Amino acid sequence: MKVEKTDMLPQKAEIIEIKQETKTNLNIKTFRLRFKDRSQRDNFQFKPGQFMMVTVFGVGEAPFGFASSPTEKEYFEFSVKEVGLVTEALHNLKEGDIIGVRGPYGNGFPLESTEGKNIIFIGGGIGIAPLRSLINYVLDEENRHKYKKIQLLNAFRSPEDTLYCDDYEWWENTENTEVKYTIDEPCEGWSKCVGFPHTLIVEELNYELPDTRVFTCGPPIMIKFVTEKLRELGIDPAEIITTLEMRMSCGVGKCGRCNIGHYYVCKDGPVFTLEQLGEMPDEY
Ligand SMILES: Cc1cc2nc3c(=O)[nH]c(=O)nc-3n(C[C@H](O)[C@H](O)[C@H](O)COP(=O)(O)OP(=O)(O)OC[C@H]3O[C@@H](n4cnc5c(N)ncnc54)[C@H](O)[C@@H]3O)c2cc1C
Ligand code: FES
Repeated sequence: MKVEKTDMLPQKAEIIEIKQETKTNLNIKTFRLRFKDRSQRDNFQFKPGQFMMVTVFGVGEAPFGFASSPTEKEYFEFSVKEVGLVTEALHNLKEGDIIGVRGPYGNGFPLESTEGKNIIFIGGGIGIAPLRSLINYVLDEENRHKYKKIQLLNAFRSPEDTLYCDDYEWWENTENTEVKYTIDEPCEGWSKCVGFPHTLIVEELNYELPDTRVFTCGPPIMIKFVTEKLRELGIDPAEIITTLEMRMSCGVGKCGRCNIGHYYVCKDGPVFTLEQLGEMPDEY
């Protein structure tokens, strides 16, 4: 990949909407952006699973996956969990503020080779953000016919930690699509699933082999148990796809900050199959 100097320049983007997602101290907000420059706006293209480097001017830069679908032409979105310097600064911004965006970077989810398959999405917490970009892409009316059955299992700590509630009605009412929500522990008023996602795969998803591809993103511990369960069920590791979130600096394979073995997560990833992860040193 040849990186032009201009690919590294942050472009000014306006925050046109901020949505507070969670109602707990697991503070997550979704930012809707639009480039200031008209031609930048018209020419910007990304794939679900790719990421961007976001700058809060005077504070710093951090990588975030796209949370909206590229079928949405008027804006793009990312969701941010507040954990430190840059994410806190982002959370303090207001609608109308300007931030810097460079990218898109990374490989993205395999879209074409997923066509014709059943899809299962298993997401946990902020890990649902990159999946939402793909979910909204495959459920878009232009694309829905390319895929067979679609099943979603979204896991949250509690009802107050649920994300993307505005999408649920659309997701649930799309043909041949099944949506499940689970929280860690039972609580009053919650009538949906309870339990960690790996415990619900058989009972709730009743997945259809053989043509099934699974996309799973979430906390490392969730990925560990989910992928173990999927392996136990006989799903081919090449059909289990996840994303890695290493610390990054350049985002384009130049600085060496994100490497695992001979892979640069920013350039060769962040999307990997379980088969590829099995070939990597255990550093993620
Ligand atoms: C490809 C990619 C996509 C990402 N997508 C999202 C997203 O959609 N939404 C989101 O909220 N976050 C996402 N992240 C993680 C996000 O980049 C970090 O949370 C952010 O860089 C933290 O910056 P900070 O300055 O607020 O934290 P810092 O002040 O730098 O650190 C605060 C704490 O977070 C830890 N931390 C920082 N970066 C990472 C990291 N990459 N992985 C694990 N722990 C880290 C630090 O060790 C420290 O404990 C993504 C990361 C990558 C690499
Ligand atoms: S972040 Fe610089 S090489 Fe990946």
